[in-house]
Amino acid sequence: MNIGVFASGRGSNFQAILNAIQQGTVPARVTLLLSNKSDAGAMELARARLIPTVHLSQKQFPDEATFAAAMLDVLKKHDVRLIALAGYLKKIPSAVVGEYRNRILNIHPALLPSFGGAGMYGHAVHEAVIASGAKFSGATVHLVDEEYDRGLILFQKTVPVEASDTAETLAARVLKVEHEIYPLVLKAFAENRVTIHERSVWIH
Ligand code: GRF
Repeated sequence: MNIGVFASGRGSNFQAILNAIQQGTVPARVTLLLSNKSDAGAMELARARLIPTVHLSQKQFPDEATFAAAMLDVLKKHDVRLIALAGYLKKIPSAVVGEYRNRILNIHPALLPSFGGAGMYGHAVHEAVIASGAKFSGATVHLVDEEYDRGLILFQKTVPVEASDTAETLAARVLKVEHEIYPLVLKAFAENRVTIHERSVWIH
């Protein structure tokens, strides 16, 4: 299965995916790393591994329609069958969501549907979890639709929130779990073990 990874930042989830592929756990190939930032850490990682990189940003286009068309072009050129967002901070144009319905995944550093939505990224998520008094947080892998963090939840794993936690310590605990569950879900997709029906998922 050909995966296109989209990332805006350092790329530790991207790295975890690459490691799982290299170890033979996930029967897939990353054929594209797309970023809205030419200097993202994830871009460096991809270049070092000789994975094709594309810098694509809405700013390069006059409107969403031409941006979406360019994105679809790139995806086609690299024969991408599944898109994995890994710290990609921009919205996916709806034409791309439509074309890749149920084939765009994201990882979120909290237990959705709580602590998600616009602006809920980075430390803001963990600060909100701590402020809420929640005893558990975790990571969520979900499908991407037209709204931020609203798509069908595919897989979650919890971690405890400790009384002494800061956003940093909680983020680190959640990140470990992210690196564990994202490859697991990608493995299930690559092995054709995921059945999606309306708002239900069955991983078998
Ligand atoms: C992760 O916490 C992920 O859940 C969120 O963005 C962060 C990306 O981190 N969507 P990295 O770039 O994969 O290290």
